[in-house]
Amino acid sequence: MTLSAHDLTRRVRGRTLLDAVSLTLAPGEMLGLIGPNGSGKSTLLRLMARLIRPDRGHLTLHGRPMEDMPQREIARQIALVAQSAETTDRIPVRDAVALGRTPWLDALRPWSDADEAEVTRALARVDLTHLAARDWSTLSGGERQRAHIARALAQNPQILLLDEPTNHLDIRHQMSILDLIGTLGLSTVIALHDLNQAMRCDRVAVLHQGVLVALGPPSDVLSPELLARVFGVRASPLIDPQDGSRLMRFHPLH
Ligand SMILES: Nc1ncnc2c1ncn2[C@@H]1O[C@H](COP(=O)(O)OP(=O)(O)OP(=O)(O)O)[C@@H](O)[C@H]1O
Ligand SMILES: [Mg+2]
Repeated sequence: MTLSAHDLTRRVRGRTLLDAVSLTLAPGEMLGLIGPNGSGKSTLLRLMARLIRPDRGHLTLHGRPMEDMPQREIARQIALVAQSAETTDRIPVRDAVALGRTPWLDALRPWSDADEAEVTRALARVDLTHLAARDWSTLSGGERQRAHIARALAQNPQILLLDEPTNHLDIRHQMSILDLIGTLGLSTVIALHDLNQAMRCDRVAVLHQGVLVALGPPSDVLSPELLARVFGVRASPLIDPQDGSRLMRFHPLH
């Protein structure tokens, strides 16, 4: 048991953004979160990181209600890489990544060599060691995205929430970030638009207009019927001749 959502509902000005979503993240699994634009993926991730509060329902972390937990305790366990984390801060990349250590520091436990090592390791994992001294604001979109992921890794969480982490990345870095996430052994929720990338997840959760309409292994869930209903596309399955894995190609419905 890790993170569970029970009947989560979020409304804004009379509009229901998320409607009675219940799911439990299994330890160590990679759960893909998919759905069209505006279907509630970011809203669900923000609720899970407790950046916002539900109007109804609740979250539990290891069986304990999250609503009364100190933010610091949550931040030691859950790290979020937001969808468009814009930063104009003029600080070195290394210092921005070091912010991930914040929930672990206090007067009794000041910055130490161990924190330094975590930051070094996080930078190396996202292939940013060479840019550690660079001013954050000068990074390219993809470099910045990788720096955000490094900051989340430096936080050393058990649960990683990623909102479209491969958005700005070139194809090689998309693959290496997904491979990295797969090898971390963390419980991960990852919002993705690339449905072929979603095929690599242990399970996928499909949101449609704020409702969780399917949850299960990708090869079961991502059927042509569901893709037509939720995304309005016709999907034709293809088999990769190199390794036999299933891929999808998409066409307009009509
Ligand atoms: N504070 C807010 N006030 C009003 N509407 C909001 C607010 N936050 C989100 N929404 C709306 O809620 C819906 C869900 O938004 P959300 O960001 O969760 O979607 P998403 O699935 O992440 O979409 P995308 O794929 O485009 O990132 C959208 O229609 C959005 O416009
Ligand atoms: Mg979003």
